[in-house]
Amino acid sequence: MCGIVGYVGEKQAQDVVIEGLRRLEYRGYDSAGIALVHDDRIATDKRAGKLANLEKAIDEHPLPSSTTGIGHTRWATHGAPNDTNAHPHLGASGRVAVVHNGIIENFARLRDELERAGHELLSETDTEITAHLIEDEVVAGADLTTAMQNVCRRLEGAFTLVAVDSHDPARVVAARRNSPLVVGIGEGENFIGSDVAAFIEHTREALELGQDQVVTITREGVSVTDFDGNEAEGRRYHVDWDLAAAEKDGFDWFMRKEIFEQPRAIGDALLGRHDEDGQLKLDEVRISDDELRDIDKIIIVGCGTANYAGMVAKYAIEHWTRIPCEVELAHEFRYRDPILTRNTLVVAISQSGETADTLMAIRHAVKQRAKVLAICNTNGSTIPRESDAVIYTHAGPEIGVASTKGFLTQLVACYLLGLYLAQVRGTKYGDEIAAVVRELAQMPAHVERVLADAETIYGLAERFKDTKSVLFLGRHAGFPVALEGALKLKELAYIHAEGFAAGELKHGPIALIEEGLPVFCVVPPRGRDQLHDKMVSAIQEIRARGALTIVLAEEDDDEVTPYADVRIPLPTVPTLLQPVIATVPLQLFSCELATLMGHDVDQPRNLAKSVTVE
Ligand code: M6R
Repeated sequence: MCGIVGYVGEKQAQDVVIEGLRRLEYRGYDSAGIALVHDDRIATDKRAGKLANLEKAIDEHPLPSSTTGIGHTRWATHGAPNDTNAHPHLGASGRVAVVHNGIIENFARLRDELERAGHELLSETDTEITAHLIEDEVVAGADLTTAMQNVCRRLEGAFTLVAVDSHDPARVVAARRNSPLVVGIGEGENFIGSDVAAFIEHTREALELGQDQVVTITREGVSVTDFDGNEAEGRRYHVDWDLAAAEKDGFDWFMRKEIFEQPRAIGDALLGRHDEDGQLKLDEVRISDDELRDIDKIIIVGCGTANYAGMVAKYAIEHWTRIPCEVELAHEFRYRDPILTRNTLVVAISQSGETADTLMAIRHAVKQRAKVLAICNTNGSTIPRESDAVIYTHAGPEIGVASTKGFLTQLVACYLLGLYLAQVRGTKYGDEIAAVVRELAQMPAHVERVLADAETIYGLAERFKDTKSVLFLGRHAGFPVALEGALKLKELAYIHAEGFAAGELKHGPIALIEEGLPVFCVVPPRGRDQLHDKMVSAIQEIRARGALTIVLAEEDDDEVTPYADVRIPLPTVPTLLQPVIATVPLQLFSCELATLMGHDVDQPRNLAKSVTVE
């Protein structure tokens, strides 16, 4: 989820681009770069780290004056966050510069093709190939717009691309597929941005591009085509937001924005991870298939929300692979002297990749010669760097301290890992794996449907805004969902909240139930086992003792209706995948309740986004 800016007009492009990048830095801050067109040449600078590093470099080595430029702030997906992988990327002769947001799925094939044709690629990114391909087209005589159309037709995946050609200095061309792109329409100047924050201080007239469209901006105007060169239209609108709201895409909190980004984030986490037959390909797993076949135990470590993702993973991984799987809080792990061998796979889950407790746990595992695989959202962070393999979750930066899209994409990555192990070890047939992959592919749409009902959840938050305590119940994969629901409420609303396995109630916690106590109940889908019915019995028991039951269950599950004071309908999905959708109403509830209570949702008291001390 990188930030992209493009400008052509009368002002100094450097100032406009750098200011735009500053506004977009929340989208990614691994590196930043700029390319300016000057005297038939491209002048560029790009630096790892925050935008401030780039600004310092430009101060020391000024770039030439120019009125056409593009810029990028990166959230790394392919390749470490260093100077070389930073955008912009140049074509073979440096005539074309490109910045990119998204993931090009078929980049390995295109890279091979370019290398066979004698191109030397300098970075590990999927982006650089597009600069070479576009430059080949313009060198062969195409104008930049046609070159972009021709190249986009060859690309698979999700991308926003923005390009400049030094031989055509007054034009910036951009394209989009499954990735955001807006045009800012000015007087004698026009802008490109990943979102309106990039240009809102210059113009409030915007044009949103449709899917598979290419836009060309010059000083005089804006023209849109599809990838085949046919004339097309974007959607023009006026931006009413102020700057702060623009960064949050109009939402009041980054957390709320991130909750609503989840369908996209899940889609990105799945992107490029399976072929058309549903066969999985996890390219970052640098542990050989033979070694994976020898694994006889898995231990998952993580903290907080990441630990709950691990708890869900245990159900899925054991079921699909028959490998015994333990889940452990990372800070407890090494102090109990765990039994680790060369055939143990330790899976470290961490959004930030910097959590000290998790880092210490994997260092201990490495010392004991266990294999370590990280599931992480932050490319180049310490935990994946010190692991033998990594599955990146591709959620994009998570700014809200409370993890939301980080969690859902961790779940997706865990499912992919489980299915991959099952594929390698032959514990599931190919068509069974393909069937689960098809179910996973439906998850963005299911989450979308749950989000469409957000107002109902907000009404619930209004109703319970004075409550002092809330309980959450679940069973099986729904138990970690209950724990996650309770954690969200604690960290955001600062009220007493606890999650329980519903079967445990009768062993003690049922004593907490009193008249009017709100209890969220995550009901497993109806199936062959008795999980569903057992959960319904638990709901009956607490309701008989005065609890106010808020029941999350399949939309056509009539069996729960008599015992539900409030129903939250969920789309029907397999039990193991239900956490992906059942978590979403709980996130919305906490976010709204904390908002109504007047708390700072993005930065709750006493908490930090990444906990880098033990
Ligand atoms: O960056 P990590 O995933 O390693 O962080 C782990 C926990 O600190 C984190 O999930 C924390 O529990 C969140 N505040 C939960 O919303």
